[in-house]
Amino acid sequence: MDHFVYREGRLHAEEVPIDTIAERVATPVYVYSSATLERHFRVFDAALAPLDRLTCFAVKANANRSVLATLARLGAGADVVSGGELGRALAAGIAPERIVFSGVGKTRAEMAQAMEAGIFQFNVESTAELVALDAVARAFGSPAPVALRINPDVESGTHEKIATGRRDTKFGIPWDEAMAAFALARRLPGIAVQGVDVHIGSQLTRLEPFATAFTRVAGLVHELRAAGHAIRTLDLGGGLGIPYDREGEEPPSPAEYGAMVHRLAEPLDCLLITEPGRLIAGNAGVLLSRVVHVKEAAGRRFIILDAGMNDLLRPALYGARHEIVPVVEPVADAPRTPADVVGPVCETADRFARDVPLPPLEAGDLVVLRSAGAYGASMASTYNGRDLVPEVLVRGREMAVVRERRDWRHFLSFEPPAPWLDLDKNAPEGSQ
Ligand code: LLP
Repeated sequence: MDHFVYREGRLHAEEVPIDTIAERVATPVYVYSSATLERHFRVFDAALAPLDRLTCFAVKANANRSVLATLARLGAGADVVSGGELGRALAAGIAPERIVFSGVGKTRAEMAQAMEAGIFQFNVESTAELVALDAVARAFGSPAPVALRINPDVESGTHEKIATGRRDTKFGIPWDEAMAAFALARRLPGIAVQGVDVHIGSQLTRLEPFATAFTRVAGLVHELRAAGHAIRTLDLGGGLGIPYDREGEEPPSPAEYGAMVHRLAEPLDCLLITEPGRLIAGNAGVLLSRVVHVKEAAGRRFIILDAGMNDLLRPALYGARHEIVPVVEPVADAPRTPADVVGPVCETADRFARDVPLPPLEAGDLVVLRSAGAYGASMASTYNGRDLVPEVLVRGREMAVVRERRDWRHFLSFEPPAPWLDLDKNAPEGSQ
């Protein structure tokens, strides 16, 4: 359920007519609904009640400060994967004790930054990372709180580019090396093991892969405890899918997911950590765009938008489908004819939809691409010299520009005419 609905023939974000946003901020622009963000967080978190839990929003899905602050006010923690995301989460008011740090390539500088901040948990993905973190933590003077991310070797059934649970991916410690990695962790004075972590992929539309992975991990928790490890946290990652369009699969509800998690996690008596991203933000945002031209060519109708793959990469990268709807509600019997909806970027991949039945659209008309609140703005670039897309947050009858549009002038200002440095004359300090 979301708060993007037609009222009197115009699409609204909560109480705000979407065309008003286009007039004030211009297009393309991401529009988020606070009420939808809040609702999704509450529904997901409540589905895990009454387990002792920490629901950490996966910042990579939507890193906007105001989005994070909206969730922080509801008690959300954060799952971060870089020093930048950690900085953003803290700036948005998420307490360090509610932050977990995931990712296979944390640098020593990022580890030190997170130690300094006092985060709740590092999710460590390899013995190499464990050894590096041990050194950083010892230099820092207190042990790093750690969960080891285990790769349970399961098929998650999602798109191959976002599946992480199979042993041939770069993610997690291989299942059969888990006990040895925990034994190593115990020997390292800079490491304080507290938990087990797993994340098998994103946009999962069936419960079974989760259940298989979580059952394996539950077994591991028993084994680890029997071997004398004090396992207090269980991090089950994110990954629960959302409905993207009418024809797409209907994923399990948070309640169904919660019931399954409850059954498996409750006997373990751990603090349950989850890292939902898409489920919270995906359907809380749309990408608002204007039709630039309608081009008829080779028997096809191309609707050319002012939004491109640099603004919303998912269709080009994953073949993802985002429902496209006009901002002015089409009359009930409007003819629908197939169209290709494309952007202005010079790549054939810059296509949002192929052969989708759409009502008549003309240059100047507004459309939205739905379900774009997760992995939309956070993956945007300025490719083709385009603006960095702005973001607007709506709250009831109010709107706020929560990220300003930035054009080429802004980016060019970081590119002075090459400030050449003669390295022979400018030797680093301390060298000959
Ligand atoms: N935790 C970890 C360790 C992750 O790697 C991810 C997502 C999440 C949590 C959040 O997963 P979610 O609940 O959002 O499914 N750009 C892709 C998705 C990449 C997901 C990467 N990891 C897309 O647009 O579909």
